Amino acid sequence: MVGGGGRESSLGWALARCPGVEQVWIAPGNGGSDDLPGCRSLAIAENDPDGLAAACRERAVELVVVGPEAPLAAGLADRLRAEGLAVFGPGADGARLEASKQWAKALMVEAGVPTAGYWAAADPATALEALERHGRPLVVKADGLAAGKGVTVAETMEEARAAIEEVFSGRFGAAGASLVLEEKLSGPEVSVFALCDGQRLVLLPPAQDHKRIGEGDTGPNTGGMGAYAPAPLLDAAGLERARLEVLEPTLAALRARGIDYRGVIYAGLMLTAEGPRVIEFNCRFGDPECETLMPLLGPELARVLQACAFGELDQAPALSIAAGCSACVIAAAAGYPGMVRSGDPIRSTLVPGENLQLFHAGSRRDPDGSAVTAGGRVLAVVAQADDFDAAFAQAYGGLAQVHFEGITYRRDIGHQVRRR
Ligand code: AMP
Ligand code: GLY
Repeated sequence: MVGGGGRESSLGWALARCPGVEQVWIAPGNGGSDDLPGCRSLAIAENDPDGLAAACRERAVELVVVGPEAPLAAGLADRLRAEGLAVFGPGADGARLEASKQWAKALMVEAGVPTAGYWAAADPATALEALERHGRPLVVKADGLAAGKGVTVAETMEEARAAIEEVFSGRFGAAGASLVLEEKLSGPEVSVFALCDGQRLVLLPPAQDHKRIGEGDTGPNTGGMGAYAPAPLLDAAGLERARLEVLEPTLAALRARGIDYRGVIYAGLMLTAEGPRVIEFNCRFGDPECETLMPLLGPELARVLQACAFGELDQAPALSIAAGCSACVIAAAAGYPGMVRSGDPIRSTLVPGENLQLFHAGSRRDPDGSAVTAGGRVLAVVAQADDFDAAFAQAYGGLAQVHFEGITYRRDIGHQVRRR
């Protein structure tokens, strides 16, 4: 397992509990990795392909799962495949779905995938001209990977102009060499994940995350402060529609470009009055959607991801999905999503159980072996129950048992699906 966030903690945990899995190595992992049953951290950075390849060889690793987008976009999966390893995660070619918004938009148009209308521009004059011609504020997106900071949903023309200037100011480095302007859509958002073997795909239950830092979905955007699944917003028919209109055509369009996409396609959908529209594609699992979903997935997960890596999903057992509701709440450090301090001891009396998990994210081990904070989103507490009220009650109950200086979390995660 490559990566060190809450997403990788939950994936490692889920893989380790699959029959036949002897050991999961998480590189670099975090302060909680060694507490996950069957998991061990390995001090190798996600951007060290030589180190990762050597570690896989030494340990005769049978499946590599790459969590974050940056190493995927940098070609880590290609490098490991060239060594004969089975890898779940697209090559740099497929990772362009996330790494270039312009490329992804062109692919969607070609494939007839419903998405917001757009204009691409590689200089401010072209972008400003497109904006003025449109005459209404547009959504401004830096083309490349900008750690979730490259999107402005402008409310006014002035804001849109400022966002265009900002993208080209160099603030986003190479990610801001070009941009796309998009029509502004409205509607609730839902995350859909397709596990792909290059030709076939399996959908996971839809999840919804809470991107804003503040209760009532207010304040600055974050990586995600909590999530729940399955999101009732997208019922079985809605999910089937997303498969037919979005995921299958996207995978086919990738194939048509000669791209053998073996990994997860994350479609961020907006459910507009006119139907689902793709807001963004990512080449990885969502975080914290992943933490939320993993406990719902059956013991076939390792076989299914391995089958994706081998390009033979048709040979894999069906992935069973638990019937319950899963709730995830993120505990962040004070100041997140701005600057946070780190090094605060994490204390926990939470005892994980069949329906309650604690996944570390931004944490590390001090030399004395104790876990301390080391990032904005520090922990994820996840719980499953028959309904969302019970699942959230359990997750918040678990959260009350963990503490670090400045712990910050939203009390209203899942407000859409809770009655109390
Ligand atoms: P992203 O960084 O691509 O996840 O975008 C951040 C957020 O901006 C999304 O979750 C949406 O809430 C919003 N957004 C992106 N594109 C659009 C659009 N075309 N219309 C309205 N909102 C959008
Ligand atoms: N939770 C949103 C993301 O992972 O991009």
